[in-house]
Amino acid sequence: MRQGTVVVITGASSGIGRAAAYAFARRGCRLVLGARREELLGRVRDALAQRYGAEAIALRCDVRRAEEVERLIAAATDRFGRLDVLVNNAGVGHYGRVEDTSEQDLRELIETNLLGVFHGIRATVPVMRRQGSGHIVNVGSAAGKRSWPFHGPYAATKFAIEGLTQALSAELAGSGVTVSLVVPASTRTPFFETAKLAVPGFRPSPIGRMQSAQQVAEKIVRTVDHPTPELITVPLLRAAFVLAEAFPRLADFAAKRYYREAMRRSASGSASGTAAERAPASNGTPRRSAASAERS
Ligand SMILES: NC(=O)c1ccc[n+]([C@@H]2O[C@H](COP(=O)([O-])OP(=O)(O)OC[C@H]3O[C@@H](n4cnc5c(N)ncnc54)[C@H](OP(=O)(O)O)[C@@H]3O)[C@@H](O)[C@H]2O)c1
Repeated sequence: MRQGTVVVITGASSGIGRAAAYAFARRGCRLVLGARREELLGRVRDALAQRYGAEAIALRCDVRRAEEVERLIAAATDRFGRLDVLVNNAGVGHYGRVEDTSEQDLRELIETNLLGVFHGIRATVPVMRRQGSGHIVNVGSAAGKRSWPFHGPYAATKFAIEGLTQALSAELAGSGVTVSLVVPASTRTPFFETAKLAVPGFRPSPIGRMQSAQQVAEKIVRTVDHPTPELITVPLLRAAFVLAEAFPRLADFAAKRYYREAMRRSASGSASGTAAERAPASNGTPRRSAASAERS
């Protein structure tokens, strides 16, 4: 990666976005970091400057608001004169049955996970088209390749991102602008704690082995260094997705079995052992833990 590459990352205050900021800074990139929690974001910026001497701007940005995303992109061009990479990473989780999900909850998910990416694309494409170069990396999810019980509303937003990404990639052919979808599997971040829970007694647990945020961040960097339309961060998962496509009855059978078992354990209160700690999301408040955000 060229020294001084200008990278904008949404959702850089925590988890994968924060790890990506470190990974790009280590390679001499200049950064524009966006998220809602300004204090956490400021700490990331300061740590990057201290450790790597990185030039970084931290800006409050709620990706649900087009004008705030436009401001983030403008900060890159105003300060650094260009924009080479956008990582559309900001996202929130939600666990609940489709039938129990309120319209409001679905709207909130769509606004952050889908509209947030859309706003990033809309603000960035004109800049990159003018430059004749650039790379947009959208962060999807394994749940956006194959949905699973309790993941329906979240998965719907991630499937949608894949749809946007594929079309955009073709539409930008010949412009010098590249588009990639990075598909993380379960990753050790505060995501599981901040996700909204709409299943009393159910504890969202990772499916399969957890990756670290750093591992996913390195994949994001690799996608920029070696552009590819889609990068699944756990290669073996690609085989699982192909199998699920080829044998939909088998995939459906496995999902139904998982669902029955999860509901049985949820009813007996043993699914999480933490139902008391983790109040169901009926209060409508996403749980956030600054301490855990710091850990990731
Ligand atoms: N962890 C996993 O297992 C996993 C698996 C597959 C895909 N992913 C995807 O990876 C991405 C990053 O998630 P993560 O695991 O790193 O979770 P995380 O640690 O909870 O980080 C989420 C980031 O998104 C930001 N964010 C949330 N809503 C926002 C909004 N309205 N405007 C701006 N920023 C917002 C948060 O910052 P503020 O709260 O400060 O705004 C935070 O920086 C998400 O798109 C997620 O869907 C995660």
